[in-house]
Order: sequence, then C-alpha cells, then structure tokens
Amino acid sequence: MLRTHTCGELRVSHDKKEATLCGWVHRRRDHGGLIFIDLRDRYGLTQIVFHPEQKDLFDAAGKIRPEWVLRITGTVAKRLEGAERETNPTGQIELHAKELDVLNQAKTPPFEIDSTTPANEELRLQYRYLDMRREQMQRNIALRSKVFQIIRKYFTEQGCLEIDTPCLIKGTPEGAREYIVPSRLYPGNFFVLPQSPQQLKQLCMVGGLDRYFQIARCFRDEDLRGDRQPEFLQLDFEMSFGEQEDVQKIIQGSIEAILKECSTKPLKGGKVGSYTWQEVMDMYGSDKPDLRFDLPITDISSLCEGCGFKVFEDALKNKGVVRALRVPGGAELSRSEIDTWTELAKELKAKGLAYILFKEEGAHSPLLKFFSEGFVEKLQKATGAKAGDAVFFGADKVKIVCASLGRIRAEAAKRFKLIDTKVHSLFWVTNFPMFEEQDDGSLTFSHHPFTSPNLQEWKNRKENPLSVHSICYDLVLDGYELGSGSIRIHDRALQQEVFDMLGISKEDSEKRFGHMLRAFEYGAPPHGGFAYGIDRIVMIVAGEPNIREVTPFPKDQKAKDLMLGAPSPMPDAQMKELGIKVVG
Ligand code: AMO
Ligand code: AMP
Repeated sequence: MLRTHTCGELRVSHDKKEATLCGWVHRRRDHGGLIFIDLRDRYGLTQIVFHPEQKDLFDAAGKIRPEWVLRITGTVAKRLEGAERETNPTGQIELHAKELDVLNQAKTPPFEIDSTTPANEELRLQYRYLDMRREQMQRNIALRSKVFQIIRKYFTEQGCLEIDTPCLIKGTPEGAREYIVPSRLYPGNFFVLPQSPQQLKQLCMVGGLDRYFQIARCFRDEDLRGDRQPEFLQLDFEMSFGEQEDVQKIIQGSIEAILKECSTKPLKGGKVGSYTWQEVMDMYGSDKPDLRFDLPITDISSLCEGCGFKVFEDALKNKGVVRALRVPGGAELSRSEIDTWTELAKELKAKGLAYILFKEEGAHSPLLKFFSEGFVEKLQKATGAKAGDAVFFGADKVKIVCASLGRIRAEAAKRFKLIDTKVHSLFWVTNFPMFEEQDDGSLTFSHHPFTSPNLQEWKNRKENPLSVHSICYDLVLDGYELGSGSIRIHDRALQQEVFDMLGISKEDSEKRFGHMLRAFEYGAPPHGGFAYGIDRIVMIVAGEPNIREVTPFPKDQKAKDLMLGAPSPMPDAQMKELGIKVVG
C-alpha cells in the first residue's frame, strides 16, 4: 500500500505518530509563512502543514495545484487551540509534512470540485469522473451501494435466490419503446434489451426456483423526465404460491428496511397506507399522489345540475363530471399565475380551468355572472373554501378532470409550500383497472399483459372490458411511483384470452409470446411478484431532485452519454457486417 491511513482516519489518538496519506489536493492556502494543503480522498479531508524551515519541501509545496495527486508522509500533531474544526472529523489534528511525492499532476479542472454551487450539468456529465470527486456525489454513490447491500441481505433472508437473467432477449412489453441490438450471425434479426426481466422471472417460477430476486438492469427508450433514465435498475422479485398480500408483505419489509437504515424521516402517520386506485383517482386525481400534503378534490357534479354555467352543464350532459379543488391561500394568486396553471391543465387536454377567488371582500371570478342564485354559497360549503382561498374547477370526461386537477393540486402544493418535507408518505394502490382505452378506442394493458384479471369480473370482459380490475398493486413514495407488481396469469387459456382482448392475433401472440404460452402448458405454478426502481428510492432518500444525481454514469435529458459521446455512428465496415444501412 502506498498509504498507512486514509484522509478521514487520523485523530488526536494518533498524536506524534508518523503517517503516510495519499489523495487529491482539495485546497491550498499560504498563510502566516506556512503552506496548508487539504488532502482529500473518499474518506475525508486532512490538513497538511509545510514549514519554511524545510526549504526544498516548502518550495515543492508552493508549486502544488488543485487536484494534483500526492503522497505525503508526516507527523500527526494536535492543532493549536482555536484552530480546531468541529465540522471535520479530522479537525482536531494536522499532519506536519516530512516527505512529498507528486504521484500525478492535474490540469485545472473545468469546474471547481470544492465549490458549494455545482457547475452546469452538461459540464458535470461530460467530466463525470471529476464530478464524482464532489462530496455530494460520493455520498450519493455510497448510499446507492448501501441500498444494494440492504436489498441483497433482505431478499436472501426471505429465501430468495439471486438469479441473473440475460440482456440479449426478445421484446417484453412494459409500455415503452425498446432498444434493439442487431445480430451479426442473423442479418436482419435483432435482440431486444429487456424493459424488465418480467418473462424470465416468471419462467424461473415455472422452473421451480420458487423465490427469485435480482438487481436488474432495464432498458426503456421513452421520453425522459427527472425520475426516468433510458437504463436503470430495478429490484425485481417473484414468488410462487404466494398471494397479493404475501408479495406486498415482503416488498414492504424491504422498503421499510431501506428507509430505516438510510433515511432520518419517519413515515407520515407512522404507517404504510393503502388505497384503491379508484379512491386515489377520485380524491387526488392521480394514481401516484404525493400525500405528504392533504389537498383533496371534491366531486360537485350533482351540485352543478342547473347551475347556470354552460361549461359545467355540458360536461354533465356528455357523461362527464365536475370536480373542484380548494387551494388554501389561493386568493392571492395573480392573473398570470392562473394563466400558467390554465396552460398546464390544457396540456392535459382540459378545455380550460375555471376558478373562483374568495377574497376578503367577496368572491371574484369571471364566471359569477353565469352562476344561478345561491350556487357560489353551495360551492363554498361543499369545498370548505374560506376567505383567502381559491377553488379551481375541472368539467369534462373523468379521466381529463383527474389528470388536470391532479396536476394543479401538485402545483398548488409547490406554490404554497404545503409539502411536509420532514416525513415520507408511503402507501399501496390496489385494484387497478385491467385495461385502459387508447385515443383510437382500442384497449391496452394498464400494467403488462401477464397480469391476472380479477377472475370474478373477467366474465364481463366482452360487454364492459373497462370494468374489469386486475390483481395489480403499486407502491407510491413521496409522490413517485416506486414500484409495481401483480399476480400473474399461469393458465394458457386465460393468457390467450388476454392477448385476444388486447387485439393481439393468435399468429402474433405465438410469434411474440409462444414461449410463455408453451411454458404454461407444463405445470406453471400460481405466482406473482413486484419490481421497484432502485434509482428512484435512492433519489428520494438522498433528497435529490432527479435520478441523474444518484446514478454514477447517467445519460443526459436527451438520452446521450456526454462523457463517452454515445450514441455514435458506426464504421461502415461494421455496419456492412451487420447488414445495416441507415436510411434518411
Ligand atoms: P414497471 O414498469 O412499473 O413494472 O417498473 C417498475 C419500476 O421501475 C422503475 N422505473 C424506472 N426507473 C427509472 N427510469 C425509468 N425509465 C423507469 N421505468 C420504470 C419505477 C417503476 O415503478 N415487470 C414489472 C414489475 C412486475 O410486475 O413485477 C415492471 O417492470 O420505479
Ligand atoms: P369559456 O366559456 O370557454 O370562455 O370558459 C370560461 C371559463 O371556464 C374560463 O375560465 C375557462 O378556463 C373555463 N373552462 C372552460 N372549459 C372548461 C372545462 N371543461 N373545465 C373547467 N374549466 C373550463
């Protein structure tokens, strides 16, 4: 070893002992005739002192620049009274240098490693290896590693085998576009990178492995947001002969273990909640509401019959709903803020965002003139609006109203600082609809096509497919969808019926999923499972605003790796070998 100690290790108990440290120059200060260097490694910072009496050493220290890599031998000494630093664990001592080796020099970095204000993100991602030297990144990457350890220990104790599944596979639908890999040996044929190991973990259950877990790398070519990356990690779990409650219990235990060991915040209300999909959609307009604040939506449909306002009455005539969101303190919102919120609602297909401001002097709204006598008072009673509040309205098909008022609810919480950031809100959402209607009227799955429907309701699938629920459950943490799971189909005929309902022809289902259908013919056990986003839970526990901050080498928001310069064009010869021609 080139060193005897790390830069975070020396204490007063090492006083007068000799030590050799290796690390990067964090800071150099020339001060009162002495040179001070803070030497940094993953474990901490140690102050090194160079004295002018040792002339050669002192001159060499004078040439040292930030981020040079040094090896320094010296004697540990207690710092002078008044020079101690309580905030640094090595702040009681310093190392008086006797020998200095410059292990490597460094160019001036494109941004200051030492700075408390991070550089622009593009530069940070381009020089990720420098960005990683920052304390915050080191902390986040260490936290990520700790979460891996907790997961491995927990699921092993639950009797799971850690089973790795391949990345060169066939499409497995999870609702995103896929990354494909051309095959050299079979020109015109492609592997697909897994959106999740869904089918393989189910096949492990058919294979009798009983309980599986994996820290699985997944690939999804989808529009990026702060909580999404094109490749990410899932904790992926599957069990045989278990029911929904069994899967939930095991998964919940693992999240509780992570939060207990990695977060200082308690769970809101001291426990993990549970809601049905219908409940959260009706109350909060979202299937992943942030319940660190309670801002419920009120259905006022029955109140609006004959209310005089055509927009509301027409929505009801068209089998829609009218719902209201009370925003405490909202009366102070400016016209331009309301316009911005209206645009947000319109992005989610709402036709507008009607509102009333309940000012001290009375109700203000461009709509008052339309409302019938006494309607405003009724509204105020139904929503509990007080002087100083605002009420926003959505009048449309229920899906549009939920989406737009759900979004306004989240905006209102940010604007009026309603979020209790001292707690975590963790709850289950159960009983999802089996299918969703797409814009063209066709059906798509709401989880994935291997999820079991509620068998009682399955009989109604032909007449009323949207009324059928699935045995599917999500976990929501602080307003993020942390994970999803379901009890799976293990019966060939039922799986075929689901493919039929999704409009997947027999021929197509054989081509795409023949291996699953076949496996179900050979004694597939009842089984179910779950997967949660590891990057997401680390992001939430670290209190970071996006998962790039907790991913060692993330892609940028346009799905590029700025450090490696990927994706990039391939040499012609390689393209030819793969039988690929780029058109357009
Ligand atoms: P699902 O598609 O809901 O379920 O994914 C599970 C969890 O993975 C995380 N996640 C992501 N994290 C970062 N970037 C992304 N692009 C991204 N996409 C998803 C989320 C999400 O909740 N096979 C099923 C699970 C199962 O049924 O067992 C599945 O993949 O936290
Ligand atoms: P309009 O009659 O379209 O000019 O709309 C009058 C007011 O109602 C405006 O403030 C609109 O933003 C709002 N509004 C219009 N359509 C809807 C709707 N479907 N839901 C909620 N508010 C709406």
